Amino acid sequence: MSAPIVRVATRADLAEILAIHNDAILNSLAIWQYEAAPLANREAWFEDRAGKGQPILVAEIDGAVAGYASYGDFRHGAGYGRTVEDSVYVRADLRRTGIARALMGPLIDHARAAGRHVMIGAIGLPNEASVALHAAFGFVDMGTLREIGWKNGGWLDLKMMQKTL
Ligand SMILES: CC(C)(COP(=O)(O)OP(=O)(O)OC[C@H]1O[C@@H](n2cnc3c(N)ncnc32)[C@H](O)[C@@H]1OP(=O)(O)O)[C@@H](O)C(=O)NCCC(=O)NCCS
Repeated sequence: MSAPIVRVATRADLAEILAIHNDAILNSLAIWQYEAAPLANREAWFEDRAGKGQPILVAEIDGAVAGYASYGDFRHGAGYGRTVEDSVYVRADLRRTGIARALMGPLIDHARAAGRHVMIGAIGLPNEASVALHAAFGFVDMGTLREIGWKNGGWLDLKMMQKTL
């Protein structure tokens, strides 16, 4: 398999991004939504991020979107302006081949260059892969919020990891 090309996402990538996003909604605890989203949802997300100067990066392999990463606002309020929350998603059949690793470095570099001070990983548990990925990039485990979500008939915990940039 060839090495991924990491580049800025375009609108033409949104259908493939949507497929990865919806797989995470339907088959994981990473996104706390219950139903698959329409393309308009990702289009609105794309425009929102673009308007705020927040990047969406894709990793492309053989012309297809293998994964994507982005960061957005952590919480509302001017005081939080230098803190961002990351998201990283890799196509299920291409996991554990270094795609997320290829995306995270440039994403962190972008945040640092944009003057951001802290990046947060907010990880729905269990998610051994995401916890290990964030730890590998120097995110520190700040603790777990208990039973703050509900999906698939059970409470969800959220692990907070932070990296000071
Ligand atoms: C988490 C996720 C993005 C990792 O992507 P990936 O491309 O498979 O990860 P990589 O192959 O780049 O792995 C990078 C490092 O992450 C860690 N890692 C990744 N998957 C792992 C797993 N299943 N178990 C343990 N560690 C794992 C390892 O430290 C790995 O480095 P190594 O391969 O040198 O040991 C991917 O599993 C995914 O898309 N999961 C579903 C969506 C999700 O949970 N996103 C995160 C929301 S917070």
